[in-house]
Amino acid sequence: MAIISSKKHPPEPGKKPKSKREKVKSPPNENLLQPQAAEDEEGKPEESIRPQRFADYIGQKDLKDVLAIAIEAAKSRGEVLDHLLLYGPPGLGKTTMAMILAAEMEVNYKITSAPALERPRDIMGLLVNIKPGDILFIDEIHRLSRMTEEILYPAMEDFRLDITVGKGASARTRSIPLSKFTLVGATTRVGALTSPLRDRFGLIQKLRFYEVDELSQIVLRSSKLLKTPVSDDGAAEIARRARGTPRIANRLLRRVRDYAEVKKSGEITEEVAGEALQLFQVDPCGLDWTDRRMLSVIIEQFNGGPVGLETIAAATGEDTQTIEEVYEPYLMQIGYLHRTSRGRVATPAAYKHLGFKPPNEQLSLL
Ligand SMILES: Nc1ncnc2c1ncn2[C@@H]1O[C@H](COP(=O)(O)OP(=O)(O)OP(=O)(O)O)[C@@H](O)[C@H]1O
Ligand SMILES: [Mg+2]
Repeated sequence: MAIISSKKHPPEPGKKPKSKREKVKSPPNENLLQPQAAEDEEGKPEESIRPQRFADYIGQKDLKDVLAIAIEAAKSRGEVLDHLLLYGPPGLGKTTMAMILAAEMEVNYKITSAPALERPRDIMGLLVNIKPGDILFIDEIHRLSRMTEEILYPAMEDFRLDITVGKGASARTRSIPLSKFTLVGATTRVGALTSPLRDRFGLIQKLRFYEVDELSQIVLRSSKLLKTPVSDDGAAEIARRARGTPRIANRLLRRVRDYAEVKKSGEITEEVAGEALQLFQVDPCGLDWTDRRMLSVIIEQFNGGPVGLETIAAATGEDTQTIEEVYEPYLMQIGYLHRTSRGRVATPAAYKHLGFKPPNEQLSLL
């Protein structure tokens, strides 16, 4: 079961809104704006644009400040880094940061993900092979099985593996000492972690969406590595439509590069970026079909809300978890959606973006 669906949004012809003002087009064939990595996306030659060191990691100043101090302190004491939990929406740089930490600490890292650690022996195998100071990165850590989690408790706390030998009355627990290591956990759902697990992390850090100027810098950096000329305005145009997410910014850059090479001189200017992104149906604010459908359902069918999450999920064909973890954080960040105790409410900015008159303006016309 995928926690975050990466499915493409099926067109639902019967559900297409009828209003003329409604600009929600049917979903494009390709989900350029999905923050999750596409199946074939990671591990490609473009992987080379992933920042390798702290200095290349743009934005997330608070996170970098905290980690820089932790790294320096650990290094000067000759100790391992505290266990670190990183949380936040997909594509913001959690895996990248774990790799950078290993590079900065000059240690090796091992990347795995909770669904791959189903049986106790999976995690045991990793733990006994760990070398002093190594970083063990567990993605989707909120999905660990109970048994795996219980093996991790003493491993994280005392660098010890407890195993039970024998059965029944003759069963005994034996402890195996482990090398000191750093566990870096990543999750999009920090609330789903059990508290004993959460409490064993010395550092718990949130990744936030990137500002447009930070994303512009990321686009400019990536374009240099991809050897594609991009003007500052061209980078900003891509950045504005990237939903605050570096993975999306880099993906849009690659698509705009294709367009510029085939249709234009090759340089990505503001005009070229705008044309290409319009062709690919990327909204000027980076909203995708599901975002627009969510907002238009709230506005058109429920007078702007409040509307329950289940209703929104049914109207968009997404599951409630994906709506909560992927779509809503960005809509709230740009001020298009409010979450209230009674449900979700569309803001005047959302009305305007979709071409509707905000409710108070409608009132003042009466
Ligand atoms: N701060 C940054 N500066 C420059 N590029 C970045 C930054 N953060 C992320 N990226 C780019 O975005 C891509 C996605 O980042 P990453 O894989 O670390 O995201 P993630 O948070 O682990 O996502 P997921 O939750 O899907 O695992 C990387 O390939 C990297 O090139
Ligand atoms: Mg990741």
